[in-house]
Amino acid sequence: IVHDFRNILTSIIGQAEILQMETENERIRSELQAIIESGERGATIVSHLLALAKKVEQTKSQRLAPQHQAVLERLIGLVRFQLPPQIRLRHVIEEHLPAVELNVVEMEQILLNLVSNAAHAIEGDGEIDLYIRTEQGADGQSYLTIRVRDTGKGIPEDQLNQVTRPFWTSREKEGGTGLGLTMVQRIVKRHHGQLDIASSLGKGTTVTIKIPATVQADDNWPTFGAPALHAETHTMKPARILLVDDAEEVLRIHQALISRMGHAVTPATDGKKALDLLRSSKAPFNLVVTDYRMPELDGLGLLEEIRRSMPNLPVIMITAYGEDERLKKARELDAMLLNKPVNFHNLEQAIQQALTPIRSAQKP
Ligand SMILES: Nc1ncnc2c1ncn2[C@@H]1O[C@H](COP(=O)(O)OP(=O)(O)OP(=O)(O)O)[C@@H](O)[C@H]1O
Ligand SMILES: [Mg+2]
Repeated sequence: IVHDFRNILTSIIGQAEILQMETENERIRSELQAIIESGERGATIVSHLLALAKKVEQTKSQRLAPQHQAVLERLIGLVRFQLPPQIRLRHVIEEHLPAVELNVVEMEQILLNLVSNAAHAIEGDGEIDLYIRTEQGADGQSYLTIRVRDTGKGIPEDQLNQVTRPFWTSREKEGGTGLGLTMVQRIVKRHHGQLDIASSLGKGTTVTIKIPATVQADDNWPTFGAPALHAETHTMKPARILLVDDAEEVLRIHQALISRMGHAVTPATDGKKALDLLRSSKAPFNLVVTDYRMPELDGLGLLEEIRRSMPNLPVIMITAYGEDERLKKARELDAMLLNKPVNFHNLEQAIQQALTPIRSAQKP
């Protein structure tokens, strides 16, 4: 049911976004904006319902400036309901955070990976504290600081330098890939930031990330990385994209959104058809965007098939959060996960990131 609900919301948000792009009429645009925002609020409610169903404790949080409160709260909400109930996540987000070049996908990666690591380090009950605030560096520069502290088992001193290495993991048996911190470190480096890990064996670990502010604090932070996104949008090369979804309504909307970005989209209504298209098409595809839940050959099955013969083809998989343990497998197979509901901006960002060659360079 939750899954259907998300599809409905995706459809509402998507249709409204398409109409918004089609009209010049300001009044209609702003009314459509209200629809989009309601749809997004609906999505948040769905997330909260899910969280409740999973008995994940919810905490009240401090108020933020309206623009980024929503984004950060939503990300943390999503992170939160991946946690087992015996782990408590508290978070404090300072008001008036400085602008940074980080985009939503990157922020999400950072939060998800750090909180997931903290959760894995905790056996039984435990606490995770997440702070997002401005701190002044010794150089006088302002930094957006993200700090995740856990009461987990800690990291042995001789391993502190190893943990960010690609494929370094102490959770091999549990399915750890050892790429979580590697990815986080890449993002941090890309933004000329710093990553610091302090740990005390048996007591816990604190991971601190500092991202230099592009503008001093108090400047408003538009839509969280939106300026950077726009600058790059125009330089994105048109790509050939294979789009797979069994829900035709969703397929149609995503197709329209991606076409708007200037890409050529070929739709497929199931995994088998997608594979046929991949194999028989004369011009190669640059990217596959697939739904996860589909009858017969689902997104993961499709991904596995693709990896057999096309190890470097970028794949974005659209999923619902906290849906399935099997999704770990998708990450291992180098798919990028994108959470529902999908809208123009997060889809555009994901496609852009997927088409940037840094990703494939990770593999040995
Ligand atoms: N908060 C933490 N407390 C204790 N150990 C940690 C913590 N964060 C990371 N580590 C150690 O660092 C290792 C590497 O972390 P990383 O996130 O890169 O990979 P992983 O968590 O093992 O696998 P993946 O993130 O791919 O599922 C972990 O296996 C763990 O040993
Ligand atoms: Mg990890």
